[in-house]
Amino acid sequence: MLTIALPKGRLGNQALRLLNKAVDGLDKLDLSSRKLVLSIPKKSLRFILVKPSDVPTYVEYGAADIGIAGKDSLLEAQSKVYEVLDLGFGKCKMVVAGFPDKKDSWINKAHRRVSTKYPNIAKNYFTSIGENVEIIRLNGSVELGPIVGLSDVIVDIVESGKTLKENGLVVLEEICDISARLVVNRVSLKTKKNDMTWLIDSIEKVLEE
Ligand code: PRP
Repeated sequence: MLTIALPKGRLGNQALRLLNKAVDGLDKLDLSSRKLVLSIPKKSLRFILVKPSDVPTYVEYGAADIGIAGKDSLLEAQSKVYEVLDLGFGKCKMVVAGFPDKKDSWINKAHRRVSTKYPNIAKNYFTSIGENVEIIRLNGSVELGPIVGLSDVIVDIVESGKTLKENGLVVLEEICDISARLVVNRVSLKTKKNDMTWLIDSIEKVLEE
């Protein structure tokens, strides 16, 4: 039996579409149900539906053998998992964003604050460019930070750019590209080698089509 951690939400639907092509008999999986565990006994597969940012944790601890997670969640969690495939969907960018007219004043300000759902990514980024900032952790609606004066800028993902635009913010710096990745537990890769290889190969074939 292989356990696969799927992220709830938009990434989950795209992940299921890919898995449907890779493995027959998954078309009955209903991600909109309130069930958190969905089993396909005939295929010896079990799916657990988790918060996207928790996928790396389930896989790191072996509660799931395989998971699909955004690169943002992986970078933030810094978990000890193997990243085996770039799945090519869920593409977006991790950026520093703020008000366009504040760009210069932000750079020259002595005490600078950054609000973000990604404190580790933000800390690593600003450390890597030798800048000292205060990081304020939020759980969502991060764009509010500069608007209400909580922070000077935000570090967040941008997909269509709509949220930034509608809130009068722009990208000031790009940090990295993000997309969905297939990650595996390091022990499962050895103890369930045949099943793991079969699933990874099946997914890879779909990506090559
Ligand atoms: C994410 C992200 C941005 C938005 C970017 O938030 O944090 O706010 O999507 O997408 P866009 O560029 O297409 O507008 P999410 O929808 O996950 O909600 P949250 O802010 O409550 O976390």
